[in-house]
Formats: sequence, structure tokens, C-alpha cells
Amino acid sequence: MNAELKPDPSRENLDAFWMPFTANRQFKANPRLLARAEGMYYWTADGRQVLDGVAGLWCVNAGHGRREISAAVAGQLDTMEFAPTFQMGHPIAFELANRLASLAPPGLDRIFFTNSGSESVDTALKIAIAYHRARGAGQRTRFIGREKGYHGVGFGGISVGGMVNNRKIYGSSMLPGVDHLPHTLDLGHNAFSRGLPHWGMHLANDLERLIALHDASTIAAVIVEPISGSAGVVLPPVGYLKRLREICDKHDILLIFDEVITGFGRIGKAFASQVFDVTPDIMTTAKGLTNGSIPMGAVFSQRKIYDAMMQGPENAIELFHGYTYSAHPAACAAALATLDIYRNEGLLTRAATLSAAWEDAVHSLRGLAHVIDIRNFGLIGAVELEPRAGKPGARGYDVFVKCFERGVMVRQTGDVIAMSPPLIIEPAQIAHLVETLAAVIRDTG
Ligand SMILES: Cc1ncc(COP(=O)(O)O)c(C=O)c1O
Repeated sequence: MNAELKPDPSRENLDAFWMPFTANRQFKANPRLLARAEGMYYWTADGRQVLDGVAGLWCVNAGHGRREISAAVAGQLDTMEFAPTFQMGHPIAFELANRLASLAPPGLDRIFFTNSGSESVDTALKIAIAYHRARGAGQRTRFIGREKGYHGVGFGGISVGGMVNNRKIYGSSMLPGVDHLPHTLDLGHNAFSRGLPHWGMHLANDLERLIALHDASTIAAVIVEPISGSAGVVLPPVGYLKRLREICDKHDILLIFDEVITGFGRIGKAFASQVFDVTPDIMTTAKGLTNGSIPMGAVFSQRKIYDAMMQGPENAIELFHGYTYSAHPAACAAALATLDIYRNEGLLTRAATLSAAWEDAVHSLRGLAHVIDIRNFGLIGAVELEPRAGKPGARGYDVFVKCFERGVMVRQTGDVIAMSPPLIIEPAQIAHLVETLAAVIRDTG
């Protein structure tokens, strides 16, 4: 066994950690413990090498073990481990905001820092309402989300989100007045589309129906993920996002793109809005911002939003919102080092270079038993399996576990297997990932 790895803890030692989004009893009966990571690989606590097909959890875009990041964080902790950003500041917070503004889509150059995607989403929702109020439209408080949307786990995020398991027991506690667009996943029309599906742009027109129902004057913002990952990879039909933008513009409604997984190079440019050439009013990010090393999120707002809020007496706090750890110095140092890596290694555009080979690789799984759809864009891929009768998710779980046992980590949502590898992946590793998945699907009934 590798001397650097810690021994497998006993089963009893697993009890105290109430694991997130995990079947705790099932996991603790048969745990999968990761102990070390480098480049494209994890090593398990018992020393097995595992190819990372999901960039941790859609966040380790530059690959694991980046010493530039750990050195920057260690240096920052030695220099100043913490500084408040309420009525105080520290230089690298401003430096990071400027760096992010220079990468951002046009105009999105006012940056609010958070610690996670969920906090970014709740922050964006609050900014949207505050903005409308500041410009004299305080009745605009409704949000329109989308079915199958995932916007984290805060009460705001689950209210605009559309994943039933995350919402069903909190019905009466969610934000009032939220409505949802239909999702855009349609296997009947779009199964095995390569890249964006061509059918479904008209689904954006449902926004007009919701506006007619609620009246535009009550709606603050529409929030969608340009590509959703957590619901099992749902792609926007060609022209769909542009149509949403047009309708929002027509009715003076803000458009929020949740780029928590698409941000920082996942689909071939820094942000999905640049790939799709649709600029939102607010953009939420997290994950790849620090390569997953230190928790951090950032909300990008159009300057008009920030400017509208900068009114009243100069000593008045304009937005009563913030986190103790907004722009935490260690997170800022991690993010700056991460952005350096992305720039120096051309990683923000690498997915565009690899996407054709990636598409061919994932679509090579077509024809295997139980494969009912394959979806891809940038360095995102998903294979949807036919559910076993009466046991939704069981086949997907078996495939996920067997892949892990054979040294490949993928992500399972129900019967969808999602892949989103670090952007440093090499063609031979793409082949290994997909061939292992193919072998496992063949061996799984
Ligand atoms: C689109 C989107 N928004 C928000 C989140 C929540 O991020 P976090 O888990 O960092 O709170 C996620 C997480 O996967 C996400 O995919």
C-alpha cells in the first residue's frame, strides 16, 4: 500500500459524518474512500488508481494536485489568514474582481463574492429584487425557473430549481410566486443528437405564456442553467437561449445564467454565454473558480445593475447582504493562481479543441444494450440508460459503482451517467474512460 495513504477507517468510524446527497446506509456498508489525487487521477484509501471522469464534482478543471494553487494558498495563510470585507478590504479581493471582470461576457463587470454555488444563486436572486426596487419597480418580485433546473440547495435555489426530490418536502417553505418553464429534454425528438438538439427552441416561448399569466410587472428575473448538469445533462435546443433573452428584453425582465458548472472553460470558452453568444444580466459561478481547492463563488452583474444600486447618501450600505467569508483571502489567492493556470495552459478553450473527439468517443456507446440517449457538448457527456422496470436509478447506480471498481469515476443521476473530466484530459484518457464505461454497460444487466 502507498505509504502516503491513510488506512481504511473502520466501519464504525463512518457513522458521525452525515453525508450530503448520499444514501448514507448504502455507502457506509460499502464505502468508496478517496485519499490522494494528482493530475487526472484519484487514489483510493487502499491504493487503487481511479481516472477522474467528473473533475471531482464538475470543479477541478485544471486537474488535481496543482502545486501553484496550494503554494498560493499557503503563502496567503502565512501572510494574512483572514480579513473582513464588510467596511474593510484587502488588495487581492480587488485584484481578483478585476481579473474576473476582464474574462467576463460584455458588461458583466461587477463581482460579488460568495462561498458556493448555492450562495451565488441566492445572492443573484436578492440582487435582482433589490435592483428592481432601486429603480422604482419594487413590485417585481417573482422568479421564473425551469423544470429539472438545479440551482443549489438554499431556499431560493430550490424554489427556482426544478428537481422534485430537492423540493417536495419543503413545499410550504419555498419562495412564493415562483413559476417554472418546461424543461428541454425530449428523447422522442432529440435522442442521440450530437451537440445541441435542433428541436425545441419553441419551448422558450412558454415564457410569454407565464408572463401573460403573472404580468411582466411582477417578474424580477428568469433563471436557467445554459446547460444543466445535475439533472442529468440537459442541453438547450439551438436558438433557445437567444429566444429567452429576446423575451426578457421585451418585458424588462432580468435574465440570470447559472454558470456554476459551465463556467471556467467547461464548454470551450470561459463562460457558456460566450459560446452561445447570449449575454445574461447576472451570472452565477463557483466550482472551477478555484479549481475546487477552496470554496468560493462569484456573482457577475451588469454594470447598470450595480449603478442603479449606488444611490442615496454615500454612507448608506447599498445592499444588505454578504458573507463573513466573501472574498476570503485564501480563496482569492486560490482563484488568482487558478486563473493563471487556465491562462498559461490555454485551458479555458481546450474543451473546444477536444470536443469533436469527445463527441465521437461518447457517441461510440450508441447501440449498447439499454442505452437510450447520448448527449454531449464541450467536455460534457451523458449516457442515459433505460430504467429497470420498477427500479428507477438502479441500473445507473450499478454502472457507476462498477466503473469505480474498474478504476473510472463517473457521476450518476438516476439512470443517467454524466462525464465532465478535468480540461487537461488527454485523448488516450478519453478512450480509457469511454471504453471502461462501454465494458461496464455491456456487463450490467
Ligand atoms: C448549476 C448549479 N448551480 C448551483 C449549484 C450549487 O453549487 P454548490 O454545491 O457549490 O452550492 C450547482 C452544483 O452542482 C450547480 O450545478
